[in-house]
Amino acid sequence: MRTRLIAGNWKMNKTASEAATFAAELSRHLSKAPTDIELVVAPPFTALESVRRVLGPASPIQLGAQNLFWETQGAYTGEISAPMLKDLGCRYVILGHSERRTLFGERGDGIRKKLQAAFTHGLRPILCIGESLAQREAGSTDEVLAQQIHESLSGFTAEPLESLTVAYEPIWAIGTGRSATTEQAVTAHQTIRAVLATTASPSIAERTRILYGGSVTTQNIAALLSSDQIDGALIGGACLDATSFATIVKLASTTRSIGV
Ligand code: PGA
Repeated sequence: MRTRLIAGNWKMNKTASEAATFAAELSRHLSKAPTDIELVVAPPFTALESVRRVLGPASPIQLGAQNLFWETQGAYTGEISAPMLKDLGCRYVILGHSERRTLFGERGDGIRKKLQAAFTHGLRPILCIGESLAQREAGSTDEVLAQQIHESLSGFTAEPLESLTVAYEPIWAIGTGRSATTEQAVTAHQTIRAVLATTASPSIAERTRILYGGSVTTQNIAALLSSDQIDGALIGGACLDATSFATIVKLASTTRSIGV
């Protein structure tokens, strides 16, 4: 049984002070968070400390970062390493987000090094993959997903891969209000699981959580999670509103035990 994961990617939003206020609001909404789901928020680097302080050690909300650099320390102006994130209380790190790939030129080999750094330092990576609209329309979605998995994951041993989560995020669905249909997401998730079975192993493929991301809202989360192929969601826009995020969490819980 894979435990569902709902992760909020705040992207480049909220100053440290705004983030502290927001984290307090989120805590109130999720004070009785369901225990059958893992919850993660990924604020900007500059807000990790303030969010951590507000959430406190007993919070059901875990901390994630949006990126890291693969070296541990040194002359890498502007970069942040895995040990720095660990020290700030991060448990997760988002890697290979399509915005990093398209706006900052990240590629498979670099993402692979970042995954290695995450594994080495005990951070749980959420590896984002997904096709562009042109690639989908050209019928090459499966091929693109397979290539993105191969270039980032081949060669790792089974042990570190136990901590991997994959997020299927079709680029055309991110921030557009146009989510993939449940059927489209399920098909992609089946492809990803099949590729993981050959790249890693069938048992890793069976245990790895695959999230869907791309215009997830309170309106479509239930339909997306109606399939047992979809193990949770990576949420952008809708996680910036505490009520929306908490409602999504509630809808994602099989027990539906919290008031929002
Ligand atoms: P969105 O972003 O929910 O705003 O579409 C998702 C993401 O980029 O992870």
